[in-house]
Amino acid sequence: MSEAVYPVPEEWARTALVDEARYAEMYRRSVEDSDAFWREEAARLDWIKPFTTVQETSFDEADFGIRWFGDGTLNLAANALDRHLAERGDTVAIIWEPDSPDEPARRITYRELHADVCRFANLLKARGVRKGDRVTIYLPMVPEAAVAMLACARIGAIHSVVFGGFSPDSLASRIEDCDSTVVLTADEGLRGGKAVPLKANVDVALAKLPSVHTVVVLKRTGGAVTMQDGRDIDWHQDVSAQSDDCTAEEMGAEDPLFILYTSGSTGKPKGVLHTTGGYGLWASMTHRYVFDYRPGQIYWCTADVGWVTGHSYIVYGPLMNGATTLMFEGVPNYPDPSRFWQVIDKHQVEIFYTAPTALRALMREGDDYVTRTSRKSLRLLGSVGEPINPEAWEWYHRVVGERRCPIVDTWWQTETGATLISPLPGATPLKPGSASKPMFGVKPMLVTSEGVPIEGAGEGCLVITDSWPGQMRTVWGDHERFFQTYFSTFKGLYFTGDGCRRDEDGYYWITGRIDDVINVSGHRMGTAEIESALVAHAKVAEAAVVGMPHAIKGQGIYAFVTTNADVHPDDALRKELVQWVRQEIGPIATPDVIQFAPGLPKTRSGKIMRRILRKIGENDVGNLGDTSTLADPGVVDHLLENRPGG
Ligand code: PRX
Repeated sequence: MSEAVYPVPEEWARTALVDEARYAEMYRRSVEDSDAFWREEAARLDWIKPFTTVQETSFDEADFGIRWFGDGTLNLAANALDRHLAERGDTVAIIWEPDSPDEPARRITYRELHADVCRFANLLKARGVRKGDRVTIYLPMVPEAAVAMLACARIGAIHSVVFGGFSPDSLASRIEDCDSTVVLTADEGLRGGKAVPLKANVDVALAKLPSVHTVVVLKRTGGAVTMQDGRDIDWHQDVSAQSDDCTAEEMGAEDPLFILYTSGSTGKPKGVLHTTGGYGLWASMTHRYVFDYRPGQIYWCTADVGWVTGHSYIVYGPLMNGATTLMFEGVPNYPDPSRFWQVIDKHQVEIFYTAPTALRALMREGDDYVTRTSRKSLRLLGSVGEPINPEAWEWYHRVVGERRCPIVDTWWQTETGATLISPLPGATPLKPGSASKPMFGVKPMLVTSEGVPIEGAGEGCLVITDSWPGQMRTVWGDHERFFQTYFSTFKGLYFTGDGCRRDEDGYYWITGRIDDVINVSGHRMGTAEIESALVAHAKVAEAAVVGMPHAIKGQGIYAFVTTNADVHPDDALRKELVQWVRQEIGPIATPDVIQFAPGLPKTRSGKIMRRILRKIGENDVGNLGDTSTLADPGVVDHLLENRPGG
């Protein structure tokens, strides 16, 4: 652990929306007088019908339920667009920086974005999309992705964005799970100069899904696509015929806004459901306080809209705050590792928010790629998605931010909607590697694995004791799974799945997942998903997957594979399996290590002892703990002797 503490820069303490004293006072009110606090904060949204009830929530099984502002109505697309038109219609809402620096950037004003969203909303309506219908979005990082999301929100359709890196199979299961009948895609995506065949992937996914009646295809690269008559329509051609007048649907605060699939420790990815009022408030409020956002500032979050960070901090949060949000199509090292910093100079970015994995990869390339750029416009830096190691934090602070920019290390999850634990730049002295203090209204707690609360400094499982407005409301189609996954491990508490340490100053230090979820380059993967992809291969009898430390990705994927008896495991099969997993799930699930094992360590009742596999994955084999309950302890020796490089 780093011992360094960086005080709040004097200028930030003086000018920020929230300074240290104000944070303490606001936090106190948010938990002691929470209804009044939320009534005031909720005024940052435009409500059609004001709410009278604030919080109606319980984490207990008997009366389990989560409702916020339940009788209010509003529309989030109107909150993100219409209400800015009078004052800042000509302000740039989205700056789009394409994959290649040689292609011109696009700048879209609030007025233009409003018209685009209305036209696209009318197109969706013309194809029969109604309030409550599910629309799957499988688009590259182009402004049309934001247009599509907001058009859904405008007419009350529920969007489900699927990351463009997912395979046809992964896409198909997500379309099927929520019964989407409309898919929005592009001919191809572009990342690092390489084309991603999005429409072709959609075609494969839809081969078995005849219920999808409409595919809207955006032209991005002009690559050849096959259009299916009656089903597939051309985005630009069809949208240009639509009117730019579209009334925003009056939505209940608890009406669904979107579904976003995320991996858990068991089974298929879960459709995390967020609703309108609470999510809208949480995304806009946290964006405003955490980034100390003031209208006019250029703000850049490098996430993909396929992940929750893109939803809350590229689209909804910034646009509700009238921000200028930069959307980048490409990757950090294309054409070279200077790209991020060049884009910052080109568009005069003031607030920059990225993931530790990108920082670690860029740090390795040497400081010169950074220092050859100016970065004078930068005022504030952010980190998200995984624990940031102090070395990467220090590099970010010293080299990228030239010691003048605070770093907000924001801890949160798909399930939490937006940030729950983070420094505020004008209020919180920074400790490299610590997400520091809870956001307003958030009550974190540490418990032992038996559920005993830990007071003061200590380490344990991170739980949240009470609801916050941006909390997910259910797992799509499986409310029981929602309760079981998050509220049954520790009764009456929301279990995050993360381990955490709290220091003497009350700072929270997230140590990483303590369940069977791994975090690869900030992307969340369920080990069970990769295992089921592996065993779906004809030559594989059994597989167990664990995380392993990885210098750039944070965690890598370590797979133990038992082949069928008649198969000779060799390097060729290893390559074949890696390719297989990429094809089944997508490149983000590429195994880093495949170790063939004639047997896996199992208890006499047949349960795989994952603890031992995790230790092997971590190369921490000095003390494997008690192995006496194993059916065949010899299996472990074999695994140790045959570790790749072991
Ligand atoms: O383990 C935590 C890690 O990412 C998980 C949530 O992943 P996902 O739902 O994909 O959301 C990512 C974007 C918020 C958490 O359970 N995580 C996220 N942010 C941090 C983090 N771990 C440490 N520090 C963070 N700032």
